[in-house]
Amino acid sequence: MSFPAVRPRRLRRTETLRRMVSETRVARDDLALPLFVVEGRGIHEAVASMPGVFRFSVDALASEAKLVADLGIPAVLLFGIPAVKDARGSGADDPGGVVQRAVAAVKQAAPELCVITDVCLCEYTDHGHCGIVENGEVVNDASLERIAAAALSHARAGADVVAPSDMMDGRVGAIRRTLDTSGFEQVPILAYAAKYASAYYGPFRDAAESAPAFGDRRAYQMDPSNRREALREMRLDLAEGADLLMVKPALLCLDVLADARREFDVPIAAYQVSGEYAMIHAAAERGWIDGPRAMDEALLSIKRAGADLILTYAAKDVAARMRG
Ligand code: PBG
Ligand code: ZN
Repeated sequence: MSFPAVRPRRLRRTETLRRMVSETRVARDDLALPLFVVEGRGIHEAVASMPGVFRFSVDALASEAKLVADLGIPAVLLFGIPAVKDARGSGADDPGGVVQRAVAAVKQAAPELCVITDVCLCEYTDHGHCGIVENGEVVNDASLERIAAAALSHARAGADVVAPSDMMDGRVGAIRRTLDTSGFEQVPILAYAAKYASAYYGPFRDAAESAPAFGDRRAYQMDPSNRREALREMRLDLAEGADLLMVKPALLCLDVLADARREFDVPIAAYQVSGEYAMIHAAAERGWIDGPRAMDEALLSIKRAGADLILTYAAKDVAARMRG
């Protein structure tokens, strides 16, 4: 049967009908909000390239955490920006470091909020790379020890989930072993499993002061031309003990998200990265698109492609707009 007997428009005629047959919905429970934490006191400073995004000092984080929890958002993803950086990223596993204190502050202010920590060295290294540099190259195995130490210090500080974003080979296994031998076998790993070397991380690097001082990240992050390789990365991270898999940048990777959903049974997360967020805001500021609608549509598409969880800087705006 086809036209004129079949008319798909019949089910699009009214708002109620559309609601009834809607296949995908983004819920508050699907969202997690990334937060940047800096040293200092009373700091709540805007990130120029990301309207609506701020950098908080640890003392200013409590009220933000309560706001997030009151909006019904279940999780935050913390990024620490230390005052001092060095070659080995010493701040990354400092028990008194900025992110470690931030974890404690958020847990105290909003105990039910799930605190995920980004585990990487780039915010803490003076060269801005995600691992240890030797002879101008990011060396893999020497980086693992530092990354695992950072993850352990986050768990000790009270992190509910650790999320390695460095893309070194074997980091998930190294973190899992370190956590398990230190009494943190219950702390899940959210692996940035398919993370592409993307131009869309630009605004983030301003916010986190983590741009590489030389070269770029293409020797460890994935080539955007590769789709099959994403499955390989995800399979490896699962074998090493990842509990959740992340794909990023989200809207640029809808094919990879769909692959991941079809191939694996674990929850799939997608990161709508800084550049995706900034583009929507920039166009909306110029009056070129309807910002809230463009944002909702982007998140809906990410969910439709297969994401269970969406990390987005728009989490508060989106949650505040939701009905009921
Ligand atoms: C750190 C990290 C980055 C992002 C998340 N963790 C930046 C990078 O890899 O250069 C990007 C997030 C964003 O752009 O919003 N490794
Ligand atoms: Zn990094």
